[in-house]
Amino acid sequence: MIKDKTLTNLFNIQYPIVQGGMVWISGAKLAAAVSNAGGLGLIGAGSMNPELLDKHIAKAKTLTDKPFGVNIPLLYSKVEEQITIALNHGVKIFFTSAGSPKKYTQYLKEKGCVVVHVTSSPELAIKCEQAGVDAIVAEGFEAGGHNGRDEITTMALIPQVTDAVSIPVIAAGGIGDGRAIAAAFALGAKGVQLGTRFACTEESSAHANFKEAILNSSSGDTILSMKKYVPVRLLKNKFQQEVFSLEQKGATKEELISHLGKGRAKLGMLEGNMEEGELEIGQVSALMTNIPSVSELMTQLQEEYKKTISVF
Ligand SMILES: Cc1cc2nc3c(=O)[nH]c(=O)nc-3n(C[C@H](O)[C@H](O)[C@H](O)COP(=O)(O)O)c2cc1C
Repeated sequence: MIKDKTLTNLFNIQYPIVQGGMVWISGAKLAAAVSNAGGLGLIGAGSMNPELLDKHIAKAKTLTDKPFGVNIPLLYSKVEEQITIALNHGVKIFFTSAGSPKKYTQYLKEKGCVVVHVTSSPELAIKCEQAGVDAIVAEGFEAGGHNGRDEITTMALIPQVTDAVSIPVIAAGGIGDGRAIAAAFALGAKGVQLGTRFACTEESSAHANFKEAILNSSSGDTILSMKKYVPVRLLKNKFQQEVFSLEQKGATKEELISHLGKGRAKLGMLEGNMEEGELEIGQVSALMTNIPSVSELMTQLQEEYKKTISVF
């Protein structure tokens, strides 16, 4: 694997591969499996109330003795409780997203934590560096889940961000195999964060129907939706088509929120309703042909990476 030790030293892990925090997908089981395989597993707190997050962190501690972290999107109301729970458990790695990096970074640093913030533009990356984060995830709009409004692709974004800041950059968005990992390093990233690829593993909590839909998807099957509200990349289905029609008719943010209702993401991704549910996934889903265990996937990624760099 890559010889640069910046991120492996920062997180005390073996490989600079991070499993992105994912609502409804990345609980204790997935995060612990990734950490056990030498990467960095993240528990996705975004879909968890504080009590559930407490249980997942406690469970992860029984499943691995390796470092793991939590991903806390800053747009939900229980952020402070989530942070307190994670700190009480002794979690030392925080990935924050969807909010201002200024808000909690210094507080977490004073508690001795490593803080990483997710960005989708070089301008925001500079703000993250000024806020004192240890590293940045730069995520292109190929990525699954919530996305940057500016629609900057990973290929264009990573060099812009690595030029703009001097802290380590973790590339995300559209990285589904070892070839793409090699490309990210060539662009100046010190590590990679994968979401879609880890969603399609045995240990992810994605419903079997959702994993199957990922396997069956082809190149044009995802779309950036709800730009007026919170831009999110979705697998095309009935729900997404309804959202699309509303957007075509010029629906307001309030109308979109009302159509979204409550629990659509849980209904789709966790409960497997492929028609009515919201299915967050990245463009790289079209590359998925198998549902490996995390340990098999980590070996696969390294073999593909080595094969790629051997030709240069
Ligand atoms: C189902 C799903 C849910 C996600 N939820 C979150 C989240 O809660 N917080 C976050 O920061 N990123 C979230 N993401 C983004 C991932 O952490 C990761 O950065 C992204 O998936 C990388 O792009 P890729 O999907 O092309 O690998 C999510 C992605 C997916 C696919």
